[in-house]
Amino acid sequence: MATLREEIGKRKTFAIISHPDAGKTTLTEKLLLFGGQIQAAGAVKSNKIVKSTTSDFMAIEKQRGISVATSVMSFEYRDLKINILDTPGHKDFAEDTYRTLTAVDSVILVIDSVKGVEAQTERLMEVCRMRRTPVIVFINKLDREGQEPFELLDEIEAKLAIRVTPLSWPISRGRTFKGVYNRFERRLNLFRPNSERVEKDIVQIDDLSSPLLDEQIDDFAAKLREDITLIDGVYDRFDTEAYLTGDIAPVFFGSAVNNFGIRELLDAFCQIAPVPRPRMTDTRLIEPAEAAFSGFVFKIHANLDPKHRNRMVFVRVCSGTFERSKYYHHVRLDKELRFAAPVSFIGQKKETIDEAYPGDVVGIFDVGNFKIGDTLTEGERFNFQGIPSFSPEIFKLLTNKSFEKVKQLEKGLAQLTDEGVAQLFVQEQGRRKIVGTVGQLQFEVLQYRLEHEYGALCEFVPLSFTKACWLTAKDPKKLEEFCRYRSNAIALDKDDHIVFFADSDYMLQHHRNENPDIEFHTTSEFKRAL
Ligand code: G4P
Repeated sequence: MATLREEIGKRKTFAIISHPDAGKTTLTEKLLLFGGQIQAAGAVKSNKIVKSTTSDFMAIEKQRGISVATSVMSFEYRDLKINILDTPGHKDFAEDTYRTLTAVDSVILVIDSVKGVEAQTERLMEVCRMRRTPVIVFINKLDREGQEPFELLDEIEAKLAIRVTPLSWPISRGRTFKGVYNRFERRLNLFRPNSERVEKDIVQIDDLSSPLLDEQIDDFAAKLREDITLIDGVYDRFDTEAYLTGDIAPVFFGSAVNNFGIRELLDAFCQIAPVPRPRMTDTRLIEPAEAAFSGFVFKIHANLDPKHRNRMVFVRVCSGTFERSKYYHHVRLDKELRFAAPVSFIGQKKETIDEAYPGDVVGIFDVGNFKIGDTLTEGERFNFQGIPSFSPEIFKLLTNKSFEKVKQLEKGLAQLTDEGVAQLFVQEQGRRKIVGTVGQLQFEVLQYRLEHEYGALCEFVPLSFTKACWLTAKDPKKLEEFCRYRSNAIALDKDDHIVFFADSDYMLQHHRNENPDIEFHTTSEFKRAL
């Protein structure tokens, strides 16, 4: 039997993030192929949400339903247990992605070499930077006529505000793509589209001036020599420490669909990516190797069958050993709960499990006890930090359309916002309800589910706000004064924290300048998160 420390040392839990279409699903599939979890290409379902019309909402939920099974995928590779947490590509579900990023120890960021850094990538990287999550970059689709690699690296550094260092380097691209030179192993990997990679495709070249290089890649040898000299001069040497603190991102090049450059990426990932790390709570730092179990909820997925209101709650194990049917302490509710049928996710299948270790994700069936961010322990009272709400971008006033169903509406709103479908803010002692989301789709989800699961009808009236900030101030009088003066734009969140709504980034900056004593936080968590 492996000890707890050995189990922790085997685990790497990460997410693949990208702008839709960059190749996240394809890369996931190739990684699972390496792990032997799937046998054929095409086995991983894309969690892409294809939206055609509003009335298509159920179809969207069904698609999301499919993605429940694929929310977490695990595979074994070289004695490691690798957990991939899937993130929705659709912009409207970006909040789901932000929350998933709180449950991983590192990320692989996929960038399309043709399109470069896209909007969604910038926002996701912001969350990684905030949490100092180690990032490996994979530049995909080298088989297409993409951008110049040096330009791509410049763009990544400029737009994503992270230093990069290429660990592999492409030899040409598009139709003349020859392969990738692995800078650190000094190996040349030649490219054959769609072929199974075989040993003879890998040529060891210890000295770039060797004629072997010219033999292998003819005219491209001179350019490669030039590029490598330039890279050695311009980019920092790879430093594992700087990677682990999120200061430098190693970059790999390849083509996921052609299974090219994936093994290099996976091998480097296995070597450098962190095993489960300590996590901060509101009382102390929790080490993964502590004997007592602890974990937190980062995702809740509703059942698609409205008759059964049970849901799947995803818990990230942070310390100790999680055991089936043992009583655990639900800190927020101050209640003991046991879970008779917890599941884990092997490949793409769910399986009931008896035990889970730090880094693992456990799926628990729930009938309404949990909300995002809840902590489970063996009795100690603490709450994990770093699972904040992020500022929504679209705000609407909710009006009740079924007056005899006020209670159902309240209950539905409370439960659905606990699940993270949207954020709820109230004004005038709860009489005015403002719903905030990052995407239009969530309003439809909320409206549909309120009607079909709770029998409550509602409507939304658009508001002009574009950002919510959580307010704090050392001097309560200053805060009180500001709130009184701006009462139209002030509300309380579900935890009774004061929130200010701004009409634009410009106006927000104006208020910040005018009120130096007040702090405007863009996430609901003001304490330092680890
Ligand atoms: P996503 O999950 O990030 O949204 O992207 P996904 O993997 O679904 O890939 C998006 C499209 O890009 C797919 O094509 C996929 O085949 C293609 N693709 C992925 N990697 C590469 C690559 O290295 N080179 C090239 N040329 N294409 C790549 P599709 O036409 O949308 O879907 P499909 O019908 O091919 O599956």
